[in-house]
Amino acid sequence: MPPRVYGITMEFKLIKSVSISIGVLFFFGFAPIKQINKPRPWIAPSYTDSLINPFQSNAELLQKGKSLYHAHCIVCHGVMGKGDGDSGFGLEMEPGDLTGKSSSEEKDGAIYWKIETGRSSMPSFSDRLSSNQIWYLVLYIRDLQANNLVPKKQKKEKSH
Ligand code: HEC
Repeated sequence: MPPRVYGITMEFKLIKSVSISIGVLFFFGFAPIKQINKPRPWIAPSYTDSLINPFQSNAELLQKGKSLYHAHCIVCHGVMGKGDGDSGFGLEMEPGDLTGKSSSEEKDGAIYWKIETGRSSMPSFSDRLSSNQIWYLVLYIRDLQANNLVPKKQKKEKSH
């Protein structure tokens, strides 16, 4: 019966085009959702709250932290920690601002853990840096934050 065969072919064509449409929607429909998901908050595990920096900040250790920062971090995080390093653009996740409010309110242990562990484009430094070196970096990041948070007016008064 030729008309029936024709009907089945039509049905098949319809199913085929509907499933292609669903496939296309599935593929492209998720792209915006991925966009919405960033930036995902990065929360250190709560045990890191009890990690205390064994070092007190001083000129010598800040210098060590600065050298390490320049060697390993500046490419993405930028000279002042603003996330504007040459390689910090176009990454899956933005490096963010290490001197901003959320990083400044972070516990020392959380910063230590993030440097050690890494996530997405942020490398893990556990096999490249010693525990002491990571603590020097925490001191240096705190120093960047302190300088960033001083209101401009106060900075001017200081230099008089
Ligand atoms: C290849 C680029 C890259 C390098 C090199 C890099 N980072 Fe990052 N860093 C990132 C990115 C991207 C993020 C955000 C990661 C995320 O949210 O998933 C990040 C996040 C962080 C955070 C967490 C910020 C927050 O508030 O959650 C800290 C702290 C940090 N980096 C410190 C460092 C230090 C210190 C170094 C050097 C030892 C370093 N990073 C090297 C790309 C980099």
